[in-house]
Amino acid sequence: MELPPRSITAEEYAPFSLCFEAAFGIQPTEADLELWRKAVDLDRTLAVFERDEVVASADSYWFDLTLPGARTLPVAGVTRVAVRGTHRRRGLLTALMRTLLDEAHGRGEAVAVLTASEGAIYGRFGYGLATVQASVELSTAHAAFSRPVERTGRLNQVDTETARKVAPAVHDRARRRQPGDVERQDWYWDVHFADPHWAREGASGLFHVLHESAAGDPDGYAAYRWKDNWKRGNPANEVVVVDAFADTPAVEAQLWRHLLDLDLAAKVSAWKRPLDDPLRWLLADPRRLEVTSVRDDLWVRLLDLPAALGARLYATTDRLVMELSDGFCPWNQGGWALEAGPDGPGRARRTGPREPADLRLGVAELGSLFLAGVRASDLARVGRVEELTPGALARADALFGPVGGEPAPFCRSGF
Ligand SMILES: CC(C)(COP(=O)(O)OP(=O)(O)OC[C@H]1O[C@@H](n2cnc3c(N)ncnc32)[C@H](O)[C@@H]1OP(=O)(O)O)[C@@H](O)C(=O)NCCC(=O)NCCS
Repeated sequence: MELPPRSITAEEYAPFSLCFEAAFGIQPTEADLELWRKAVDLDRTLAVFERDEVVASADSYWFDLTLPGARTLPVAGVTRVAVRGTHRRRGLLTALMRTLLDEAHGRGEAVAVLTASEGAIYGRFGYGLATVQASVELSTAHAAFSRPVERTGRLNQVDTETARKVAPAVHDRARRRQPGDVERQDWYWDVHFADPHWAREGASGLFHVLHESAAGDPDGYAAYRWKDNWKRGNPANEVVVVDAFADTPAVEAQLWRHLLDLDLAAKVSAWKRPLDDPLRWLLADPRRLEVTSVRDDLWVRLLDLPAALGARLYATTDRLVMELSDGFCPWNQGGWALEAGPDGPGRARRTGPREPADLRLGVAELGSLFLAGVRASDLARVGRVEELTPGALARADALFGPVGGEPAPFCRSGF
């Protein structure tokens, strides 16, 4: 008989991790387990035990998410969700999610986010799909830019130690400008720079490239791997881009130019790129940036509406009344009036008896709108949002839409 979910002790870390790794077909070494230990905050873990064995696990980080309007909000980043194959489909994930969301709500956490192993799992718990990611490939023979890149400052290939000192600060500035992006905490950089074998997927270890401004300040970082392919003796190697971010679009363009011009490479690929990739607009032949897959990425679960909706900015000034359903977290259920605009945080409050709703929607749909990457009218067309006041959908599209010319939401990091 399984026991109710509880947090683990330091001694239980290894079996807890192994439960998760086994569900993904991974057999970690001792060194792998040690590398990840720092990423685990024991108080935020949950495990289901049967006798002394961990049979199901879940965990969450506590990190910043960037919201529309360049605001940041600490959120629960749900991770390490797994149920042993021998215990699947008995309700253990449901029990874990119940406890995880109740505890997060109890701690005053407004939002939970996750990336899913499969797209069909989390909608039932009130998570709404909020961002997508694309994998791309580009032949280096067709990678000319439509305008020449102005070279400023200096590009340099650096060792791991040097990159470790400067890349995190460049990233921290970049993620604050990108809605949907999350903070990279120390554990993330530990894993990135340790560059373990399982992360390489048949490619080389990481190469690190830094850009410095003319004044000598680091303002851009790229990391890539090299995949060998000498086709009948001719170089057809692949550059696999892991990171490319900078303080300005002009420096980011210089990083891409460098990656696309590496000798002996026939192809450049990247696994996680935004759908509105700025690289496409740099290219003289945009069709050559081939999208090899598009996948759901960030799922957003709103836990505390006033705190969540009050944390972002909005594109227009309006007052929108919503009739919200939330079967899994019923404290959110009912009428909410959102008064919001571009100049300050929005205000969500319970409606009174004489405030008819403009829109009827579920909490997952509101989670989809939250980062400005999904339009209420698109959800309405498939029956997932209902317009109750004529014109309300167009108003909701405008209100929840991108703020002040920001890009579509996108999360650069996996977690
Ligand atoms: C996905 C996983 C966590 C589900 O755990 P579980 O304990 O079997 O889930 P539950 O029994 O609580 O299922 C709850 C509901 O979700 C459904 N469900 C569970 N996993 C599903 C999946 N992969 N796809 C679609 N539906 C799923 C169940 O059918 C059930 O539906 P119902 O309420 O209509 O009966 C588990 O199968 C697992 O560990 N898989 C491998 C690792 C993984 O993918 N982890 C998730 C990381 S994001």
